[in-house]
Amino acid sequence: MRNLILCGAPGSGKGTQSDLIVEKYGLLHLSTGDLLRAEIAKQSELGQKIDAIISKGNLLPDDMMITLLEQHIASLPEHTKGIIFDGFPRTENQAIELESLMKRSGDETAVLIDLHVDEKETIQRLINRGKTSGRSDDNEDTIRKRLVVYHKQTEPVADFYRKLNKYQRVDGMGTVDSIFQRIDEILKDLYC
Ligand code: AP5
Ligand code: MG
Repeated sequence: MRNLILCGAPGSGKGTQSDLIVEKYGLLHLSTGDLLRAEIAKQSELGQKIDAIISKGNLLPDDMMITLLEQHIASLPEHTKGIIFDGFPRTENQAIELESLMKRSGDETAVLIDLHVDEKETIQRLINRGKTSGRSDDNEDTIRKRLVVYHKQTEPVADFYRKLNKYQRVDGMGTVDSIFQRIDEILKDLYC
């Protein structure tokens, strides 16, 4: 199985573009943010712990995140085309763990696509979304914190994949369709 990683700052369009990739290529979308919000919705003790972390704009500890991800992957139905990892890996440790998980299962990361969007634009997108999303992290203070965390903890993941020759930067500004066309240029060589 050849998997895809979609990376980018909060609000860069990972979820939006994942939907279009699923539609065209039939990959399976795995958003760790969605996974965590599903746990919060269960109102379990674990969900409450997760909510306290997300609403402050921090990342879950790596060991906790990796355990949840592995459990989720084990519960997935058989799928042959590959997975879109949206929002994972978010630290260098998570990247190391993901690559070792791939190796163990005989799968591989085809490419990491890094969506680049101006900071002003991401903030505006998320403030707009916050009017209706109900997400506890879509308020201006938490959005700014998420961006700080992204620069500090997630940007090193790009270097990790650059060294593996699997890094592609994509301009994430413009219309949803024009951004998808840029992504499609990369994917059609990998998945068609
Ligand atoms: P997560 O859910 O992954 O949030 P995020 O990375 O902050 O990104 P978003 O989902 O907010 O944005 P997106 O890039 O998907 O953009 P979208 O398409 O929605 O993670 C949330 C939290 O969970 C983290 O902060 C952390 O606490 C925890 N977590 C998750 N993964 C973790 C991990 N691996 N380790 C530890 N902790 C983890 O678009 C945003 C908005 O913009 C939408 O309203 C959309 O309609 C709009 N939009 C999209 N494209 C365009 C466009 N081209 N033009 C105009 N508007 C657009
Ligand atoms: Mg998202």
